[in-house]
Amino acid sequence: MLRNLAVKELHWPEDITIKILRGQEMAPYLEIAAQWRIQEFKGFPYLYEGSLEYEAMYMHECEKNPEAILIVGERNDEILGFTTGIPIGTMSDHLQSLRDKLPNAHEYYYLAECIFSPTVRGRGFAQKGIKLFEGVVKELGYKKICFLTVIRDENHPLRPKRYFDKDPIWKRWNYQKTDLILEFPWPTIQADGSVIDFLNPMRFWEKDIRSDTETSQKVLDAAA
Ligand SMILES: CC(C)(COP(=O)(O)OP(=O)(O)OC[C@H]1O[C@@H](n2cnc3c(N)ncnc32)[C@H](O)[C@@H]1OP(=O)(O)O)[C@@H](O)C(=O)NCCC(=O)NCCS
Repeated sequence: MLRNLAVKELHWPEDITIKILRGQEMAPYLEIAAQWRIQEFKGFPYLYEGSLEYEAMYMHECEKNPEAILIVGERNDEILGFTTGIPIGTMSDHLQSLRDKLPNAHEYYYLAECIFSPTVRGRGFAQKGIKLFEGVVKELGYKKICFLTVIRDENHPLRPKRYFDKDPIWKRWNYQKTDLILEFPWPTIQADGSVIDFLNPMRFWEKDIRSDTETSQKVLDAAA
């Protein structure tokens, strides 16, 4: 497994700097990443009433795991977006139920989130960010990337009229929607506004990245 990534801090057009951070290097960004998650995932379909206290376990997992990564895009002092992830096999308690379901859990790298600032959405940053993430994960020696999406009823009362369904994007990017569904508890906003600790069904998605020829450097070169 390639332990030392060639790429760490690079420059994209429009004065954008991309940093690829691992383990303890992530520390300065973990709290802000948690704040973004709390803010974004309050909405449908996550309906997550998060808190920094609740996020602490994931932040701690990342900081102590040298193969956890955080990719952040910044312009001057403004954060434009980021992606974090962690290998499934080396996590402690978090996602234990998922690990138990995967016969080769050590081959999987978990994509925890990809969030971009509303000011830069729709400009292809997520597409480039995910490709970069895939390149980095491949360079770390993992075979597959996985993530979980929340399953909600089509007629859920909190579903916005113009809901942006991301399933088609993941499919276009060659992620496979599997039949594996697991339940995870989190403080969940209900239709009446109350918050209860609720078991939320989540679907497992995966992509085999072995045949990908993109490297993180190629992705960055193509954007430059
Ligand atoms: C999802 C998200 C990361 C997309 O970021 P982005 O930089 O705007 O995405 P891109 O411009 O790279 O577009 C990615 C794809 O989504 C499509 N897309 C973007 N915004 C869309 C919208 N509002 N409605 C429908 N499709 C949209 C684009 O057409 C593109 O499709 P393609 O690659 O097949 O051409 C961003 O909207 C976001 O941060 N949302 C909140 C957090 C979230 O839900 N993250 C995903 C789960 S962790």
